[in-house]
Amino acid sequence: MSAETKKRFHRFNRRRLLFVLALLPFTFFVTTPGGTQAAATDPGVRGAASGAGGPITGLTPIQLMFFTAGQADFEQTQSVTGSVPNTGGGLGPRFNGEGCGQCHSQPAIGGTSPLPNPQIAAGHDQQATNRIPFFIAIDGPVREARFPMTTDLRHPDGSVHDLFTITGRTDAPGCKIAQPDFRAAAEAGNLIFRIPTPVFGGGLIESISDRDIVANMNSDLERKRDLGIFGRTNTSGNDATITRFGWKAQNKSLEMFAGEAYNVEVGVTNELFPNERDETPGCQFNGTPEDLTNFDQQGTALPADIIRFATFMRFLDQPKPAPDTDSTSRGRQIFQEIGCVLCHTASFTTGRSSVAALTHIQANVFSDLLLHHMGPGLADNVSQGAAGGDEFRTAPLWGLGQRIFFLHDGRASNLVRAIHEHESEGNIQYRASEANVVVHRFSKLRPQEQQDLLNFLRSL
Ligand code: HEC
Ligand code: HEC
Repeated sequence: MSAETKKRFHRFNRRRLLFVLALLPFTFFVTTPGGTQAAATDPGVRGAASGAGGPITGLTPIQLMFFTAGQADFEQTQSVTGSVPNTGGGLGPRFNGEGCGQCHSQPAIGGTSPLPNPQIAAGHDQQATNRIPFFIAIDGPVREARFPMTTDLRHPDGSVHDLFTITGRTDAPGCKIAQPDFRAAAEAGNLIFRIPTPVFGGGLIESISDRDIVANMNSDLERKRDLGIFGRTNTSGNDATITRFGWKAQNKSLEMFAGEAYNVEVGVTNELFPNERDETPGCQFNGTPEDLTNFDQQGTALPADIIRFATFMRFLDQPKPAPDTDSTSRGRQIFQEIGCVLCHTASFTTGRSSVAALTHIQANVFSDLLLHHMGPGLADNVSQGAAGGDEFRTAPLWGLGQRIFFLHDGRASNLVRAIHEHESEGNIQYRASEANVVVHRFSKLRPQEQQDLLNFLRSL
C-alpha cells in the first residue's frame, strides 16, 4: 500500500467509525419484566454468496445467450465517442454515471449502490474537471439529484440535474459547461436525492397483471382502514395501465426505464429518448440518437443497447433468500401480525407471459406496487405521474439482506432507522404517514421480537 493509499484507507475507516457512532442513538436499551435486555440491532449486510444476479430458471438457450450478452452491455461503461478502450460511445454532455453497472452492482450486477461509491472516480475519469458535490462521499450511496422547483423557486421542476459534465475530459476537447449549483439549491431547500433501486426480478414485476395488483389493493380492506393504510396505483398517462418501476412507481416498463436511464444517467441518446438533454454547441460529439438499432444487409436488425439492457433485466431472477431459522420464521410471522405485510405484500403470481420462464411464477416482491402517503418526514416534494410529493411505491424488500443503503434518498444504512423513518405526523402540507400505526406497533414489540423481525428482513 502506498502512503497515499494508506492515508485514504484510514480516512475512509475514520469516516465509517463516525458514521457508526452517529447511528448509536438508534441502539437503545429497553426495560422488560425480565430485566434489562439489549435492544434489537440490524445484523448488517448478509455475507456469504450473493443470492442474486443470475438468470431466471427455464430460459431457452437463445434467451440465455441474450441474457449473457445483455449483462456484458449493462456492465460496460461509456466514453464520449467510444475512443477509450473497452467503452461504448455517447457519454454526456451531462451524466451521473458512465454505465448502468456502475450504480446497479451490489451485491451483483443488476443490484444497487456498492461501496466504495463509484461516482467519485466517474467524475474524474479521463481528466474531467468535475467538483464532487458535497452530498457524494466515498462511503455513501450513489445519488442522483432532483430540484423540486425551478432555480427561481417559481415553478415546479422535479427533474434530474446531473452531477457531472464531460468538461475537461480528453475525449471532449473544447466542451465547456458548468455543473449545477447544488449548494445554492440546498440552501434554498430545493435539493432532493434518489438512490438506485435494484433491477433483480424486473421481468417478474413486468409480468404481474394489473388485475392482480388491483385485487390485492382491494383485499383486507377493513384491517388496512383500521391501521390508516390506503394505497393507490400510479398509471401511465398514455395507455392508462399501472406503472410500477422507480421510487414512485412512475415508469411503465424495463425498456422505458432503460431508454430514460441511458439518456438521463449516462447521457446516451437513444431511440426512445433521441434528443440530448444539453445541446450546448461545442459539447456535441455524435449524431443523435447515439444508440440505435443496427440494420444489416440481410434486412434483419441487431437490437439497440436499450433493448439489450431491458432483455438482461427481464431475464434476471429474483434474489434468493437465506434458509429460514427459528428466528426468521418468527420474524416473518411478526411482519404479518403487526401489518408490515399490508403494504409489503409478500408475493404475487405472474400472469401469462410470452416468455415461458416468466409465466405463473411466484414473485416474492414484498410490495403491493402501490403508492402510499408517507408524511412530511419522507416527502421529497416531487410529483411523478399520479404520485404526489409525499407518495412512494412500497419499496420491494426482496434482496434486502444484501443491501447497504435504504429509503429513496439513502438516508439510512441501518434497518432500525429505515423502519422508524416510516413514521411522521402530518403538517399543513401533508397528512400523517400511513405507516404510523404499524411502526408504533413495531416500537412496542419486545426486543427479541424486534430482533426476529430484523433477522427475517436480513434473510431476504
Ligand atoms: C448514476 C447512477 C445510475 C446509473 C448509471 C443507472 N441508474 Fe438505474 N437507477 C438509478 C436511480 C437513482 C434509480 C431510481 C430512480 C427513481 O425512481 O427516482 C434507478 C432505477 C432504475 C430502474 C428501476 C427499477 C425499479 O424496480 O424501480 C431500472 C429498471 C434502471 N434503473 C435501469 C437502469 C439502466 C438500464 C441503466 C443503464 C442505461 C441505469 N439504470 C443506469 C441510478 C442509476
Ligand atoms: C403504509 C405502507 C407501509 C407500511 C405499513 C410499511 N412500509 Fe416499509 N416502506 C413503504 C414505502 C412507501 C417505502 C419507501 C419509502 C421511501 O423510500 O421514502 C418503504 C420502505 C421500507 C424499507 C426500505 C427499503 C428500501 O428499498 O430502501 C424497509 C426496510 C421497510 N420499508 C420495512 C418495513 C417494515 C419492517 C415494516 C413494518 C414494521 C414496514 N416497512 C411497514 C411502505 C410501508
